[in-house]
Amino acid sequence: MSLEATSDLWWKNAIVYCVDTQAFLDTNGDGVGDLDGLTQRIDYLAGLGVTCLWLMPIYPSPERDYGYDVADYYGVADKYGSLGDLVELVRTAKERGIRVIADLVVNHTSVDHPWFQMARQGHPIYRDFYVWADEKPPDADKGIIFPGKQESIWSYDRAAKRWYMHRFYPFQPDLNINNPLVRNEIHKVIGFWLELGLSGFRVDAVPFLIEQVSPGNPAVTDPHDYLRDLGDFMVRRRGDAMLLAEANEPADKLASYFGERGNQMDMLFSFITNQALYLSFVRGDATPVVDALRSLPPIPPQAQWANFIKNHDEASLDKLSDAEREEVFAAFAPKKSMRLFDRGIRRRFPTMVDGDRRRMELAYSLLFSLPGTPVLFYGEEIGLGDNLAMADREAVRLPMQWSDRPGGGFTTADEGDLPRPVLKDGPFGYPKLNVEEQRRDPGSFLNWTERAIRTRKEWPEFGWGTWMVVGTRNPAVLAHVATWDGSSVMAIHNFSDQPAKVSIQIPADARGTRWRHIFGAGDEEAPEISSDRLSCEMAPYGYHWYGRKEGV
Ligand code: NOJ
Ligand code: CA
Repeated sequence: MSLEATSDLWWKNAIVYCVDTQAFLDTNGDGVGDLDGLTQRIDYLAGLGVTCLWLMPIYPSPERDYGYDVADYYGVADKYGSLGDLVELVRTAKERGIRVIADLVVNHTSVDHPWFQMARQGHPIYRDFYVWADEKPPDADKGIIFPGKQESIWSYDRAAKRWYMHRFYPFQPDLNINNPLVRNEIHKVIGFWLELGLSGFRVDAVPFLIEQVSPGNPAVTDPHDYLRDLGDFMVRRRGDAMLLAEANEPADKLASYFGERGNQMDMLFSFITNQALYLSFVRGDATPVVDALRSLPPIPPQAQWANFIKNHDEASLDKLSDAEREEVFAAFAPKKSMRLFDRGIRRRFPTMVDGDRRRMELAYSLLFSLPGTPVLFYGEEIGLGDNLAMADREAVRLPMQWSDRPGGGFTTADEGDLPRPVLKDGPFGYPKLNVEEQRRDPGSFLNWTERAIRTRKEWPEFGWGTWMVVGTRNPAVLAHVATWDGSSVMAIHNFSDQPAKVSIQIPADARGTRWRHIFGAGDEEAPEISSDRLSCEMAPYGYHWYGRKEGV
């Protein structure tokens, strides 16, 4: 891969930061975070080392699913500001070398979207924008996404006097992707935001977007053709734009979402790695992660995995067996109120481990070194907690904690009067845990994260390299090596609460005597590194990164 390609294919080695605008910074005192707030904090993000900002939905929406129910694809909800504010944000970010991407939620619209309103009135064109049936389909209660909160994937509409399909909540009717007019509208939406300067999209619910809603339709032979069409359109409009897919699918299906450049998806979240990590953490055993990494299909050279520890949804454990899920629940979500949809955890990672700094460092050291591009959820850099008093997924979307001033530096509005209350009490409350405080403390998690990101960026081999998991002679320890252009990195992580002796055979293409320690904690003794073997004793939850560069 040439040097030009490394900047063209920027997502291969980006530091992505996902932000819920309404919870980040409120600049006009109405209690709601806004686009101006994001613009004001661009230097904070640049200082942290972020290179790509992912905006959760900011479109006009009745917000029955936190904005993932879009009522207008061409606007910004008033409470966030205007399209002008968005352009200011994108421009300011660009100045600091930060790209902006946004959620593209086109599997469904809100019922409030004018298309649906016209469709239910029988409009000759918009009617076919959605998926209808005269009778309730026999399997209507199968394939529910929000168990316990959603009863069916088909609902009756009184105005249309017909049933409409909704993979998610009834207020999120699925668009009929088989309709060329719908495809055309989606192209326009993509084109619009690219013109405003976005560098791509996080594409919501991709498997459902392409599910064959009308299997009888001869126009649809391979549902992935639609993703080819999307990718192709996007790079025609903007060659450096990227599509990052949410596709929580089994390992054997994942490869089918990647394509050549401009063809299907450039990135996929690795839910497989994420869920295995949770199991490894609770067992103190690296085996689940090792198996998960080895199960990942090979990907095209310009494609990339997106890794994460905790996203804006519940930490889904749906890919684990029932017994494994129970194991994770018992350790990380002992109370029922901490769980959601029978499959996930509605907490952030630091509260799952009671703020244990060693395990937080272990987790985020993995995030920044595992093969792929790291995706942070806002606040993870300070070890932000969660607010279980909030309903379902709002628990993890609490206001950012900037300082110990009233409102946590997030807002000047009255604390008792906030749509998303600030977290005040306990060790995770803003008086104790906030950016300002952590900035002052050289040993803070914020400063640790900044250093981790800086090191990750200085060693692009993590993102670009050909990687492999290597044996350590110790099941508690994961070691992986990535090599690119003659240089290599190696990361070793001890999942156990006990010290661990490891002996690693360095792969042939990464051998040499120039290895040096580049990042890590819990060093008992300096490791012994010979040309083909690294041996050391690691501290409980210890982690180390080593690197060797060609040339100087
Ligand atoms: C996935 C999003 O991450 C989630 O928050 C949302 O509820 C569903 N898609 C529906 O859009
Ligand atoms: Ca505001």
